[in-house]
Amino acid sequence: MSALQKDIVVGVIGAGAMGAGIAQVAAQAGHQVKLYDNRDGAASAAIDSMATQLAKLVERQKFTAEQVQQILARLEVAQSLEELSGAGLVVEAIVENIDVKKGIFDTLESLCSKDCILASNTSSISITRLAAGMKHPERLVGMHFFNPAPIMKLVEVVSGLATDSKVADCIYETALQWGKKPVHAASTPGFIVNRVARPFYAESFRLRQEQVADCATLDALIKGAGGFRMGAFELTDMIGHDVNYAVTCSVFDAYYGDFRFQPSLIQKDLVDAGFLGRKTGQGFYSYHDDADKPQP
Ligand code: NAI
Repeated sequence: MSALQKDIVVGVIGAGAMGAGIAQVAAQAGHQVKLYDNRDGAASAAIDSMATQLAKLVERQKFTAEQVQQILARLEVAQSLEELSGAGLVVEAIVENIDVKKGIFDTLESLCSKDCILASNTSSISITRLAAGMKHPERLVGMHFFNPAPIMKLVEVVSGLATDSKVADCIYETALQWGKKPVHAASTPGFIVNRVARPFYAESFRLRQEQVADCATLDALIKGAGGFRMGAFELTDMIGHDVNYAVTCSVFDAYYGDFRFQPSLIQKDLVDAGFLGRKTGQGFYSYHDDADKPQP
């Protein structure tokens, strides 16, 4: 099965950290993109912020001004889900909640043509469960990008029990065409990376909870001694604690409460306090004075 043709419109739902990044990737690959978010002004703010980021890339000579103009011309705000009805691929990147996501796919099935591929950027929710009850569950597939989507190469192409292998192959080929490095994965809780990453976060959080060292020391050690690009504290601040905590709860539940995946109380505290990381200016670190530099 070949990749999506460039003249196919791509719909993206959710204009947060991931949806905005995915929209940018698709527009850079030559697709017309319609970006929808149910929060007023969120989609246009995301496109404005992309314009700012892309302008920086022109300064660094990664793109020409003309290329950026063309990319931005391909990005459009959709005011309603109905405006996605002509899309050939819709990627959902909304809150990590199965009921809300199921509601979106129900609506999309009533709006989009039967050939439209429906994809979820979920980090952990079973594609099999998401597809259950759909009229055409074979067209639902996981297309799991990593944060930040325009930079990170990996895309997990996740097949549930009902996913048509032709649909998964098309998404795999499309991700390749978009400059990514896709891998096929079966829909198990957390798929590949988010499953392997749970103990990494959990053990780091336990070290902190036992006051073995502060966040900055632990992050520095993981990077310096372990060779990781980011430590668990700065990485989860970037991901967003609401998202990361929801993913851990989902994996923990799906594995019948296996201790290896137990959610951390210090992360729950951050969520309860609304300290969601970079996006709110406060997580394990504070970002109030300089958004790019964590202040332990
Ligand atoms: P976010 O909180 O930054 O953005 C979510 C956006 O979805 C918000 O703008 C919100 O207004 C919108 N939204 C919520 N419900 C909606 C609805 N019913 N209809 C339309 N828009 C709606 O979240 P983020 O981080 O972008 O995550 C989105 C999805 O991507 C989640 O499933 C998450 O697990 C997954 N993901 C997150 C990663 C991360 O590092 N943050 C990495 C890879 C996947």
